[in-house]
Amino acid sequence: MDDVILPRRYLVGFDTAQLPELFTEVLVIGSGVAGLSAALSAAEVAGPLPTRASSASSGAHPAKILIVSKDKLGENNTMRAQGGIAVVLSPGDSFRCHIKDTLEAGQGLCDQKVVKEVIRNGPVRIKELIGLGANFDRAVNSVPHGTGHGPPPPEDGPLALYRSGTGLDLTKEGGHSRPRVIHGRGDSTGMVVEETLLEAVEGNTNIDTMDHCFAIDLLVVEGACRGALLWHKQKGRFIVWAGETILATGGCGQLYRETTNSVVATGDGTAMAYRAGATLQDMEFVQFHPTTLYIAGATRALITEAMRGEGAILRNKWGERFMPRYHPMAELAPRDVVSQSILHEMQLTEHTHVYLDVTHLPREFLGSRFPHICSTCKSFHIDISKELIPVRPSAHYMMGGIKVDARTRTGIPHLYACGETASTGMHGANRLGSNSLLEGLVYGHKAGREASLSSKRRHGKVRPYPLEVSMEAKRLRRLDLEDIRDSLKSLMWRCAGVERDEKHLKEATDTLAQWWEYVMDKEFHTPEGWELQNMILLAGLVIRATQDRKESRGAHYRKDYPQRDDRHWKRHITFRG
Ligand code: FUM
Repeated sequence: MDDVILPRRYLVGFDTAQLPELFTEVLVIGSGVAGLSAALSAAEVAGPLPTRASSASSGAHPAKILIVSKDKLGENNTMRAQGGIAVVLSPGDSFRCHIKDTLEAGQGLCDQKVVKEVIRNGPVRIKELIGLGANFDRAVNSVPHGTGHGPPPPEDGPLALYRSGTGLDLTKEGGHSRPRVIHGRGDSTGMVVEETLLEAVEGNTNIDTMDHCFAIDLLVVEGACRGALLWHKQKGRFIVWAGETILATGGCGQLYRETTNSVVATGDGTAMAYRAGATLQDMEFVQFHPTTLYIAGATRALITEAMRGEGAILRNKWGERFMPRYHPMAELAPRDVVSQSILHEMQLTEHTHVYLDVTHLPREFLGSRFPHICSTCKSFHIDISKELIPVRPSAHYMMGGIKVDARTRTGIPHLYACGETASTGMHGANRLGSNSLLEGLVYGHKAGREASLSSKRRHGKVRPYPLEVSMEAKRLRRLDLEDIRDSLKSLMWRCAGVERDEKHLKEATDTLAQWWEYVMDKEFHTPEGWELQNMILLAGLVIRATQDRKESRGAHYRKDYPQRDDRHWKRHITFRG
């Protein structure tokens, strides 16, 4: 255990006696797949309430569960997920096989028990989601075999007309040895999942939601989490006292200049938990997605791996297909291999990107299977049925995060974590594509259940606590927060990106130390400042872990230590706040 970076305990000064307050049995921070699943399962355990209409008219029965979201509900990484959900549904697949693939990708750092549990619980969670109205694509959408369009497909695809026992279309993605990725509206799976869960939440009288609420800090009193200090643009600061608090705040892709992540992914929950005394682990394991649309001036849109699952080919600047030179699974090698190979080709060809080629696939198939990507590319005048898609890697997923036990507990009593902000042990050093929505569903459900059961044991009693935090006033030199944020993102991309080495990590440490001096001692009054402080804290932890791990494993690639070193490093790096 390394006790390294010690931030101030709270970002702002406050006195709970002076602030408006709300009370809830279970507070869920975050509204992606994990947060919404947690809220729904907590509500199920809490038991039925009267319908919305009757409770509203009587004024009784306030909701027991409160979801807060820092932007509008649904602005998150779940909504952006394209590829799908990996789940064992077909007779040609097995739990054992999915478990094996996941463990192999995780390169010795997965928790086998967690992997087994998540994978075995997948089908039941998917059935539940379908029961709530989620419409996943049926096999009719697949590309027909032998269309004769373009060059022959890669050795491993396309996985045409694969029919599962359920009739759902199953795609293969990198590192999966079987087709097992279900998807919705072609390449808008996250949207299907998020919309379904949001609708269920809206119809549930046990759950209230508040959007545009920024969680500043967790309140820990008498050794346990009692809720959070929040901020709302119109209402200002307020307290939510909660019997149980679940963090489902997502990842921190915004630490990087190049990222597929939503603007909200600044790692606030992870930073907040660390300040409150929780343990973080595996912060060096940032996954870089191999194929992000690379058009100068455009936001970095994800180009789903499912495209490669359906037969897309990676080509370099000279039009050569290069992946077979790097890995037997070619385009469907694990993500770390594909990202590093792309970078190598970019260096070899002295080019800013490579290309994804789907011109051999039928136009109609592309339109129905990847409508979102077709339309995004079209908006930049790229017709993907005729032209190559410019792509390069970018930060996509944080495998590390708040360390939780098998019951999603963080180590701080009454505080739980699930989804990307948590480190459950599911992904190890490298996540398999489409395993994260699955984990969000299974562990989100679990966190909600654990929290609600704990609340029941306490008979739901929630009370306020006196807590006064004073802040030493610092002269607030005017800071250009946007400039520091942009510089931070560039520094992280350059020094702690796909390839890392001591020289660049030292540069990052030194630069960050300077910023720390004049940013972290300030008290800010809006989310821009708090986000920046959270990002600087997390960047420091990512860099420190990256520097400590002197080997290469999974998504963590050290140019100066290119080999995996099990003797010294088959272990987690943890930081206790
Ligand atoms: O490529 C993708 O669609 C990404 C999937 C994932 O990260 O799970």
